[in-house]
Amino acid sequence: MSEYLSTNKRKITAPTFIKMKQAGEKIAMLTAYDYNTAAIIDEAGVDCILIGDSASNVMAGNENTIPITVDQMIYHARAVVRAAQRALILCDMPFGSYQISREDGVRNAIKIMKESGVDAVKLEGGIEIIETVKAIIDAGIPVCGHLGLTPQSVHKFGGYGLRAKEQAEAEKLIADAEALDKAGCFAIVLEKVPAELAAKITQKVNCATIGIGAGNGTDGQVLVYADMLGMNKGFKPKFLRQYADLHSIMTDAIGNYVGDVKSSSFPNESESY
Ligand code: KIV
Repeated sequence: MSEYLSTNKRKITAPTFIKMKQAGEKIAMLTAYDYNTAAIIDEAGVDCILIGDSASNVMAGNENTIPITVDQMIYHARAVVRAAQRALILCDMPFGSYQISREDGVRNAIKIMKESGVDAVKLEGGIEIIETVKAIIDAGIPVCGHLGLTPQSVHKFGGYGLRAKEQAEAEKLIADAEALDKAGCFAIVLEKVPAELAAKITQKVNCATIGIGAGNGTDGQVLVYADMLGMNKGFKPKFLRQYADLHSIMTDAIGNYVGDVKSSSFPNESESY
């Protein structure tokens, strides 16, 4: 059978997200930015791997997501695409790649999809970028929205605090979510908003909502893999559940290696040719 005719029935697609929402099956999403991590995450049964622009912080050590470029996102995305068999692969459109004009947004979404092979893209914002979102979907590219704490706007917000505590911002968030849903988004990430508001939006929209710091009433959850594995010792926000302490495990293992090299006990005879 040709490549074109063969279908991977296990592969999660954008329409699968809507079916999962309708069936009440929660969606598990994690970030990844490299081949090995993506392979482990995919094998562990995660439904969606997000090449987040958090790669700017996690991979490059930047203070925020603003510096990462389209070409750097494509580099990370290609590695993840090579690794994953089942999960839907979603790639963030970085800051500056869709805010200038609708044409620019469509061009960059197409470039990301063509050059990396991801399944879908994610953009931050609501009504102000709705024409761009519609045009990208019209080009055949599934779009995930991102509302609430949108890190690309950190300087506008003045920090990474909880969003939509006040009624006016909560109402704007609901209107933004409804607009993204109507435009045809298959999912919306809701970041750092009150749980009650996220649950209300989840009831109102047909697309799947994915929460991070948004309580348990969303259709799914997303975390940054390095945070949930405890690689970043100092980062412990309230919403984060840490499933491992890789910082200690890796520091101990690497410390043992250093000790073995210094004492000449590595490599031994069986580790030599
Ligand atoms: O860039 C990212 O990792 C994200 C998630 C935190 C949702 O956008």
